[in-house]
Amino acid sequence: MKRRFTTGIALCFAAAVCLASASDSLDEIIQAAEKEANDEAVAAARKARTPVPEERIRLSVSDMRVEYHGSPIGMDEPKPRFSYRVSPVGGAWTVLDPETTPPKHQTARRIVVKEKKSGRQVWDSGWVESGETIQIEYEGEPLKPFTAYTWTVTVKDEKGRISESDETCTGPYYFTSTFETGFLGTPWEAEWIGTEPHSENLQPVPVFRGEAPSVPDAVEARLYITALGLYKPYLNNRDIFEETTTSSLSSGDPVCMTPGWTDYYHRVQYQAYDVTELIGKNTKNVLTIYLAEGWYAGRISRLWSDGNKPTYGDQPLLKAELHIRRADGSVVKLVTGKDWKYKDSRYVMSDIYDGETYDSTIDTAARPFKDAVVFKSEALDRIAIEWNSGEFVRERERLSPKSIRKLDDGTWIVDFGQNFTGRERINLHGNAEKGDVVRVRHAEMLNPDGTLYTDNLRSAKATTTYVSQGHHEIGVYEPQFTFYGFRYLGIEGWPNRLGAETIDFFSRDCVSAEAVYSGLRKTGDFTCSEPLLNKLFQNIVWGQKSNFLDVPTDCPQRDERLGWTADTQVFANAATYNMDAAAFYTKWLRDLNLCQSPEGGYPSFAPDQYQYAAAKDDDFFGYASGWSDAGLIVPWILYTKYGDKRVLELYFDNMVKWLDFQERKSGGTYIIDNAVYGDWLNMDADLSKPFVSTAYFAAMNTLAARIARAIGREADALKREEVFRKTKEAFRARFMDENGELKEKTQTAALFVLDFGLCDEKERKNALEFLVTDITETRKLHLSTGFLGTPLLLRVLTENGQVDLAYKLLLQTSFPSWLYPVTQGATTMWERWDSWNEERGFGDVSMNSFNHYAYGAVADWFYETICGIRPIPDDPAARGFKRFRLEPQPGHELKSASAHYDSAYGRIESGWERRENELVWNFTVPCNTTAEVVFPCPADKVPAHPGLTRTEKGSVFLAKPGKYTFTLPLN
Ligand code: BGC
Repeated sequence: MKRRFTTGIALCFAAAVCLASASDSLDEIIQAAEKEANDEAVAAARKARTPVPEERIRLSVSDMRVEYHGSPIGMDEPKPRFSYRVSPVGGAWTVLDPETTPPKHQTARRIVVKEKKSGRQVWDSGWVESGETIQIEYEGEPLKPFTAYTWTVTVKDEKGRISESDETCTGPYYFTSTFETGFLGTPWEAEWIGTEPHSENLQPVPVFRGEAPSVPDAVEARLYITALGLYKPYLNNRDIFEETTTSSLSSGDPVCMTPGWTDYYHRVQYQAYDVTELIGKNTKNVLTIYLAEGWYAGRISRLWSDGNKPTYGDQPLLKAELHIRRADGSVVKLVTGKDWKYKDSRYVMSDIYDGETYDSTIDTAARPFKDAVVFKSEALDRIAIEWNSGEFVRERERLSPKSIRKLDDGTWIVDFGQNFTGRERINLHGNAEKGDVVRVRHAEMLNPDGTLYTDNLRSAKATTTYVSQGHHEIGVYEPQFTFYGFRYLGIEGWPNRLGAETIDFFSRDCVSAEAVYSGLRKTGDFTCSEPLLNKLFQNIVWGQKSNFLDVPTDCPQRDERLGWTADTQVFANAATYNMDAAAFYTKWLRDLNLCQSPEGGYPSFAPDQYQYAAAKDDDFFGYASGWSDAGLIVPWILYTKYGDKRVLELYFDNMVKWLDFQERKSGGTYIIDNAVYGDWLNMDADLSKPFVSTAYFAAMNTLAARIARAIGREADALKREEVFRKTKEAFRARFMDENGELKEKTQTAALFVLDFGLCDEKERKNALEFLVTDITETRKLHLSTGFLGTPLLLRVLTENGQVDLAYKLLLQTSFPSWLYPVTQGATTMWERWDSWNEERGFGDVSMNSFNHYAYGAVADWFYETICGIRPIPDDPAARGFKRFRLEPQPGHELKSASAHYDSAYGRIESGWERRENELVWNFTVPCNTTAEVVFPCPADKVPAHPGLTRTEKGSVFLAKPGKYTFTLPLN
């Protein structure tokens, strides 16, 4: 049964409180519960809305997390970090009213951790006077492996009122959660097993089998499992992905594509599943596990190697331990080893690039089992098996066809109306003959004649082939060890009717699809009065969904799907507003750092299966300016968004290593020459490589100085500032002429100079003038920027007094622009400004994805400028949005706009609407935070409000937690 969240979990008052304070308003919960006719949940939520007596007004704790996860199992971080949110319970429930009595802030907290079974206390933080509710590091006794813990939070508000867990769950205060450790460094008993040694890929998928005796007094069971490849496990014929819970809070949807993609040279993740309910107490326990090639041994790990040779390893391998705990505490284990058996399954082939072939006519029962082979080597010993710190990939959304048409050659063309990443589900309803072959191809676009446009897939076959069992066939087939980027299917060999002019129930039942992506929670949204902009925003979100599949990828469809680092760094700011990407990026950063070359080069993509960074050939693919710099930029974004100081501390030395390496290579000139890809995919506005890399190097030194300060390394900060100064001078000497004009003139050149501070005052003026003239006159209100310039464009214009021009560019609909693809029916972001245009049709087929998120970086401007929600990055007390900025800049072209962002501390909202000569601005400052507010009108026209204090800066006000509405004069 597929698990999905419903309001059904809001069964008690406390749960409803938690739910509401996590993100949704109680009204939304009530509405949802009413829709589902869930009377209990409706009643609970209504009760939660009823004001409680003064004496019960307290802070409430919700959204308790450990290392960013809900109640993780198999968690191996020795010093896990706790986080939670506080919100007011009581009179101030539905209206977070700045004028009412507190609580508004946490003033102290106490965390107690106990072993769950024995109740033994292992940590009591004591009362800590602090308002922080995130990134609280565990400081208790060393954690034990395979042990469940409870943790409880108690908080005080500004009146000293204490909020404690009410163990009976009858009151509103229930602030206990759990986590469970995994191996925590203890060795695995299981061995790596595989089939007969071979080094070919595109082979049948084997299924392995191991048996444990029945355990009549079993009380609990966990499966710990990993693979160099992809695994799919069944226990006693029950699908573990479908039937068990995993550690993530983000969603209950089935997981897939495990164990995910890491730098397999150094590490692989394992997952832990609670399989207690699947254990046979009176029957033996049989584990069957499919093992596909995946990222480890499939084409994605071979395509660019010399002669398509394997890189990580020759063939997929598997390792698993089933721990069945008995009533007396002893553990019965089933571990992979030489007593395991295997045979080939009906999956004749499965590959991430090429797709999957499944032959249901194969009589697997008739196939004899063979002995599994145990693999041992030093290379295998070097691969650390680490806990699943990232988010599980899951089947997140079911999509139905929007239209189905039959071509003259009999091919059915199915259109889902949305480009996305996932897999189709087909149900032949027993209409085929035994041996009939159904072939499904995937495409993002159609050719003018209505056939699939697949040229842009390059060598990826992206095809599902299904061989039917015949008339008694029932059920749905969905590929399991691959994924496709597509909007359209082309189906050949379908046995009978599939669709008609209108989609009916039958066709929906025959063909549907699952969107597959990492289970991140949505944390942001944006909407405004301009429908095209709303669609652009939705397309950006789909770009994120489609390319957040365990690794942040460039694209999901062609023979690439790699963790390209520039794509990641330019999009990460927008991405972390749209979704909670803390665990996702933290996991990826570990791999990025493991892939750093011994000299210091961060790779151009991570994981780097070809080890290009280490073996850089100077033309392509190794380290590159703007790409490798993700090693600094992404940790910084995690710090500003989530207050994560640990990533900065962990990787600071690596960052410096990368910068020092470039400095060394410049031979003391400070002119850097690493910009392999330049300002990638710009519109006829190339820059020289030294220009791009010297500018980026300068900017990264500035950023490194900020990072050094954030972690208290002042001497390093000074050193970085010194390198910046030298680089700036070298840059000016080389790239500015005697009149203070840029020698290379493109929009990106001017943006770099302005944003990175590579100019004196005269040069700044010149650069700005050039930028504005180039946009408005030379290019008639169009951009020319590529991957590196585009993310800066609107922000730099805004910061330089050109907000109106920024709006005009954003709302431009003619080519090239953000909205042009939207006017052409795009449902995702395109790789190129000219991936398709009316004049020339499809763009350069050698590289033409219709699902690339890089240009979607612009969404951060929607949050930060249109609606004005922004972090205050360099103030340590502000980290994680404890304190933040609200400063919308309403554009004349829009009548209204609103956004929200569920920060680590709670939901921030900002929405404005023009009315005649007035602007109505609503905003929300979550509990336990402070907003620095700059109004979109002169400060002395701001009406007095008890929640607001004007600061000595004049235009900046401080706002207490609360919901505010202001009617302001329009300029
Ligand atoms: C990818 C890009 C990537 C680039 C490097 C392309 O093939 O799709 O998004 O950043 O290579 O230039």
